[in-house]
Amino acid sequence: MRNGFWCIALGAVAALAALHALPSIGLWILAGVVVAAAFLFSLLSNRAGHSSDTVAAAQSDRMVGLLPPLAREVLERLPDPLMLLDTAGRVIFANKAMMAVVGTDTHRKHVSAVLRTPAVLQAIDRTAASGEPASIDFSFRVPVERHFQAYVTRMEQTPGLTAVLLHDVTAAKKAEQARADFVANASHELRTPLAAVTGFIDTLKGHARDDEGAREKFLDIMGVEADRMRRLIDDLLSLTRIEQNEHVPPSGEVDIVEVVRDASAALQGLARLDDVTISVGEAPGLPAVVGERDELIQLFQNLIHNAIKYGKAGGRVCIVFSLAPSSAAPAGRRSRGSLVAISVKDDGEGIPREAIPRLTERFYRVDVKRSRERGGTGLGLAIVKHIVNRHNGRLQIESPPGEGSTFTVLLPAVSPADTIATPVVTEVL
Ligand SMILES: Nc1ncnc2c1ncn2[C@@H]1O[C@H](COP(=O)(O)OP(=O)(O)OP(=O)(O)O)[C@@H](O)[C@H]1O
Ligand SMILES: [Mg+2]
Repeated sequence: MRNGFWCIALGAVAALAALHALPSIGLWILAGVVVAAAFLFSLLSNRAGHSSDTVAAAQSDRMVGLLPPLAREVLERLPDPLMLLDTAGRVIFANKAMMAVVGTDTHRKHVSAVLRTPAVLQAIDRTAASGEPASIDFSFRVPVERHFQAYVTRMEQTPGLTAVLLHDVTAAKKAEQARADFVANASHELRTPLAAVTGFIDTLKGHARDDEGAREKFLDIMGVEADRMRRLIDDLLSLTRIEQNEHVPPSGEVDIVEVVRDASAALQGLARLDDVTISVGEAPGLPAVVGERDELIQLFQNLIHNAIKYGKAGGRVCIVFSLAPSSAAPAGRRSRGSLVAISVKDDGEGIPREAIPRLTERFYRVDVKRSRERGGTGLGLAIVKHIVNRHNGRLQIESPPGEGSTFTVLLPAVSPADTIATPVVTEVL
């Protein structure tokens, strides 16, 4: 089409130039012939272009037609994105998974119009020319970051066909990153108290050697820092232990009211230091839950401890029980019976909305300084999440501005019950 336009334009320009130079009747005719010839030529060349496109398209269709229906269906249903390209690099087949990555409008488009990663395009060119298979790692940054491995291979029986298979490695990359972050965070958390302890040892060996008062003070601080390291190691070990067992569901029956009473009794001393009152609600007739007692005590100690730490000094921590229908559990995790809901509510400043989805990440703290001052390691809620997962339960966090925070744990009840009282939910982890 574009060629045709240029032919007509050139013809018209030549004719006008001739008219301008020699305005006689013979030359008028000559100009007319030139324009007509240009027009005819453009028509013919357009038709030739169309017919070569049609031939290529027919060839491509023939290649796809080589696929038996069964093979085509298998490729279509592959979970990994796959496309086939013809000799000109046009997409002649893309399965559903590929369309989910590059869009649905792929048919007969050149591969560079659907996959705009230069490294992959170069690999496709090289493989199509040489027949050498290639494997390339590449990433998309938008709309969400995704990482792929592309395998490019030319068909042996039909060398005009090149296959591009993508393998999504985003989850593996993220896990790798999380592991690296975890090691970096754990080392950092240990290094800080260790630096304080070694600093005080140097001071006590040096200029504070004979200072009785300073020695007492520094030894106290060293004790606090050593305690922090011990807590961190304990938390890391319990996180690892719970993670290792996460796939083994607990089988015991636990009186959850008693568990919560024991957990809060263990924290009465800390609560008194902050002048905080802990109130555990009544729950007559509440069914037992399926669970492991020690883990559930740890779970509620972590939640109640947070409520004391981040609640108001001189305030109140309330724990209430209710029954929820099993439909309150996430799809795929539904138990046949009801769920027991245990809510731990404080009257503190609450949690910014954007921080709520990150609370159960290891070492995540809204206010790092405040958490450290209270001896926090930032692992408490990560442990809570893993215990809840292992118990096939659910954790809900509600924190309307200025109204404190409520952490609700839903656990499968041992026997079905009829009473239904669903707690208000704003955020689900
Ligand atoms: N009840 C709460 N009110 C306000 N903020 C909270 C509450 N519970 C948790 N948080 C926030 O979530 C962060 C993570 O809590 P998490 O229990 O995991 O760690 P931590 O309390 O800092 O340390 P650790 O529990 O290991 O001693 C806390 O640092 C705090 O910022
Ligand atoms: Mg905590």
